[in-house]
Amino acid sequence: MNSRPTILAGNWKMNLRRADASAFADQLRALGPKAAQGAPMVMLFPSAPFISSLSDQLRHTEVLVGAQDLHPESSGAHTGDVSAEQLKSAGATWALCGHSERRHDHNESCELVAAKVNAALASGLLPMVCVGETLEQREAEATESVLAEQVSAMLGACAGLSAEPAADGGLTWALAYEPVWAIGTGLTATPEIAQQAHGFLRQQIAATLGEGAARALPLLYGGSAKPSNCESLIAQADVDGLLIGGASLDSVSFLDMIRRCGS
Ligand code: PGA
Repeated sequence: MNSRPTILAGNWKMNLRRADASAFADQLRALGPKAAQGAPMVMLFPSAPFISSLSDQLRHTEVLVGAQDLHPESSGAHTGDVSAEQLKSAGATWALCGHSERRHDHNESCELVAAKVNAALASGLLPMVCVGETLEQREAEATESVLAEQVSAMLGACAGLSAEPAADGGLTWALAYEPVWAIGTGLTATPEIAQQAHGFLRQQIAATLGEGAARALPLLYGGSAKPSNCESLIAQADVDGLLIGGASLDSVSFLDMIRRCGS
């Protein structure tokens, strides 16, 4: 029996201003102080300047706030960067690590992503690690080898990653499959493609961390997820949640997805 929570995570990227973020949080506050039975776990990944105010605004709700990125060091002369400790003190509880836009726009290597995962873990931020293949890699039938390489580079360098639930039964990390060709393109992986990749990722985790660990780890799909396709994606056995970019910017569509993905 699958006891993994359903997670709906909104990745706002470099969008929304403070007033938009605040109005959005007000809509989410209407979800109530305690999520109803069967409601998905909800997370928001706003731009760094709004982490603090959103965390304050959502303090008495079940909605979690996370960071889109972090620097691997805890402090120092790194103009423009933000450390895990600073994010944590601003109210973040999760951090995206290795989103494809960061791997591409900022040349982030697997080694750097692993260093960020380790920094997050050391500060008590839970990492949501993103992996995924490009269109060229998919067309060259290299999807599985790319995913295996990204996962093994991370697990090999991040001894602190364990998929066993924490002592309090909570999560310790999550993995997001985000095929690069589906991000922001309107092209969504079919539920079958998503399931195939997620099943493969879970096997990879099982081979390294063990079956129990693999069973406990939430695997999210990201790439043009929206109200019209969220239910068929989430219905797949190994799709435990969605990392949502474009469709999370509008509170009406995000709330619609939360409703549709509740059990
Ligand atoms: P998208 O982005 O939903 O706009 O495709 C997903 C993501 O990059 O996390």
